[in-house]
Amino acid sequence: MTDTPLARYADLVGRTVFVSGGATGIGADLVTAFHGQGADVVFVDIDAEGGEALRDRLASQGDAPLFLPCDVTDTPALREAMATAEGRGGGLDVLINNAGNDTRMPLGDVTEGDWARILDVNLKHQFFAAQTACGWMRARGRGSIVNFGSVAPEIPVGNLAVYNACKAAVRGLTRSIAKDMGGHGIRCNAILPGAILTPRQRALWYTDQSAIDAMTALQCLPRELCGRDVAEMALFLASDVSAACTAQDFIVDGGIV
Ligand SMILES: NC(=O)c1ccc[n+]([C@@H]2O[C@H](COP(=O)([O-])OP(=O)(O)OC[C@H]3O[C@@H](n4cnc5c(N)ncnc54)[C@H](O)[C@@H]3O)[C@@H](O)[C@H]2O)c1
Repeated sequence: MTDTPLARYADLVGRTVFVSGGATGIGADLVTAFHGQGADVVFVDIDAEGGEALRDRLASQGDAPLFLPCDVTDTPALREAMATAEGRGGGLDVLINNAGNDTRMPLGDVTEGDWARILDVNLKHQFFAAQTACGWMRARGRGSIVNFGSVAPEIPVGNLAVYNACKAAVRGLTRSIAKDMGGHGIRCNAILPGAILTPRQRALWYTDQSAIDAMTALQCLPRELCGRDVAEMALFLASDVSAACTAQDFIVDGGIV
């Protein structure tokens, strides 16, 4: 982790930013980073306890972000939460499609029910959230959408076939949204994280230093990556500073080669 203060983007002050899966992991760093910019942050998560704890923690550092418990696989509920964000201030400026679930499963065990569930939590909501946001953003002629892919399909990480299929699809989804919406002033990019050592990753996969060392050895930058590394990229893509960037994948993996 770097000690350098987060970059500051003057245009993000007062912007309304919607973050899915914001209670824990990378999402919590996204919420914290946008809140720190002075943005009006609305975030959703199925983890109500985690979401409320983060909201309360940030409330002591300025205006509290708005947390709404929501399962993003429930499209009407997701749209309703987004409508709350759209109804604040100047409308929804930035959508961060972060929520996901990388539960691993041997190929032979995957049922049709698992397939549907994994697609719902890793792909479906990214499309419907973007579709909903675009309806409002095109009326204002501007907006930035950031989808979450992964480098996992490129490595590829084992026992993640359906998840990896979703994350590979995010790249096509991102380009398609960018193509369809560019004429309306809406940008759409994807962030592809590498091994980001969130509490869940440390609890499940990177449980000891040898596992961490084996991963960081694959990176050109042999250090542990954290959610803040990803948040820095999200701030850049949300800001008008990246006004000429759309339809792109931005890899934050320390240089896995
Ligand atoms: N951590 C990594 O190394 C890594 C690598 C590549 C890609 N990613 C991607 O980055 C994003 C964030 O990953 P993370 O590591 O922080 O994950 P995480 O599991 O630590 O956090 C995900 C958050 O999403 C929430 N969530 C899960 N299902 C939800 C649902 N149905 N409705 C609402 N919220 C839900 C969880 O409660 C949690 O707060 C995901 O899209 C993930 O696929 C992460």
